[in-house]
Amino acid sequence: MAQAALAREIRTVASIIGGRPETAAPGGRSSSRNPACTAERVVDVLLGDASTFVSACRAARAAQPQWAATPAPTRGRAIQQVGRLVEANKDALAGLVTREMGKPYAESLGEVQEIVDTCDFFLGEGRRLYGQTVPSEMPDKQLFTFRVPVGVAAIVTAGNFPVAVPAWYLVPALLCGNAVVWKPADYTPALGAALAELFMHGGLPDGVLNLVQADGAATFEGLEQALEEGLVDKVGFTGSARVGSRIGELCGRHLQSPCLELGGKNPLVVMPDADLELAVEGALFSGFGTAGQRCTSLGTAIVHESVHDEFLGRFADATERAPIGDPMREVLYGPMISERFLDGFLAWLERVEAHHGLYGSSGVGRIDAANPRAGFVGDADAGLFCHPTIVDGIRPEDDLYREETFGPIVGVASFADFEQAIALANGHGYGLSAAVYTSDARHAFRFRERVSAGMVSVNNSTSGAEAHLPFGGNGRSGNGSRQSGVWVLDQFTRWQSMNWDYAGRLQKAQMDVPDVPADLGFRLAE
Ligand code: UN1
Repeated sequence: MAQAALAREIRTVASIIGGRPETAAPGGRSSSRNPACTAERVVDVLLGDASTFVSACRAARAAQPQWAATPAPTRGRAIQQVGRLVEANKDALAGLVTREMGKPYAESLGEVQEIVDTCDFFLGEGRRLYGQTVPSEMPDKQLFTFRVPVGVAAIVTAGNFPVAVPAWYLVPALLCGNAVVWKPADYTPALGAALAELFMHGGLPDGVLNLVQADGAATFEGLEQALEEGLVDKVGFTGSARVGSRIGELCGRHLQSPCLELGGKNPLVVMPDADLELAVEGALFSGFGTAGQRCTSLGTAIVHESVHDEFLGRFADATERAPIGDPMREVLYGPMISERFLDGFLAWLERVEAHHGLYGSSGVGRIDAANPRAGFVGDADAGLFCHPTIVDGIRPEDDLYREETFGPIVGVASFADFEQAIALANGHGYGLSAAVYTSDARHAFRFRERVSAGMVSVNNSTSGAEAHLPFGGNGRSGNGSRQSGVWVLDQFTRWQSMNWDYAGRLQKAQMDVPDVPADLGFRLAE
């Protein structure tokens, strides 16, 4: 009886195209599970295939002109309503974030708040979306610029920020008058459905936002076909550098530049004059928050040799003492998002070398009855939990220095002078987020100037960007695109210029321009 009641509660979600849920499952059926308690199924999902993706793009293409013709302040009102709905559903949505991908509930509440903040920012943009009036070089002529929506945006996102990062794309894309096809991570289908429903209930006409539940391979194939058919004008992708570069290649063939938000190997530099307690707090939050599964997670702490031992001792101690476990309780982090991420983390442990020292927990690898974590909160055997791992002695030639790990593993390296710190902070080729801890303003500004990252923190960790500053990276972290704030408007609109000549005769630019006679031979008397 209890079993039957439980089974009835499991929802089935599907792609939503033109306002209607799909009833077939050409890509098969799947389900998501609570990573803190893998026996618990969260949702069943009917998966689409490549042609589902293409159909969604067709629906978006059909709906877009009318949405673009809707006055921008009215579109802003829809965004405002979405924000209010998300706010009213904050606990339910945050609870689902924790249940489907395992981040601690407090972080999930923060993630949902980020959607609200993004809506609040962009609802006002509906009354701005400014263009310019520009003087002409000729009389009786006026120049203007207008922001024009790009058309159909195809957005593919990851499951580590399953609702906030999608909102970074969806909110400005929709506000600017685009129609959207959104493909959430295949391991967070319930959150894909929930966020799409909130947007649709907020007042979006059918077809303006379409949801595709599909795996990565089907999505890539569908995107390829949709680009071929001319159904997509802008691609937004958040995920790995490997997939990002394939998407970049595909878009390049169609002369499109996607918005790419890829990985990071984010450095946290600790100068000899740093407040070590603060630096340890920052390293703990950015190294192990969300179990290290943020693109802004700390990769390597790069510590001046004079404070290295002191920093390592305090960091190891804080990590050993940190509560880890049930994400509905007060913990530093919960489970890995899914088996895929657990396996990825365990594979990284194989790359630990003889010259490394390991710290941070009572064990290494997966936490379970056979390999327990002292002070674990809850039942480790029920979920996908991992020991936090600090790897000291990181060198530039180590894999652990060069590649993003996306798990609760943090490297520690030491440096002798500022040049060496900068070389270590930049040498891996990623450039998303970087932090410096110092009490000397010169170090802070010199670090800002020399570090290759798109986002720099001073006396703050590498994670925790605010929703209205430009977010994005350089090098292997992206293609230079920026999200959030006013900067993202350049992703979802194109500038159109207009000139209006009311002289009543043809005035030729650069040729029929009034002259200003001058005596350029003039010199002041000595
Ligand atoms: C990501 O991991 O894709 O700044 C985004 C932060 C978060 C966003 C991370 N607000 O850490």
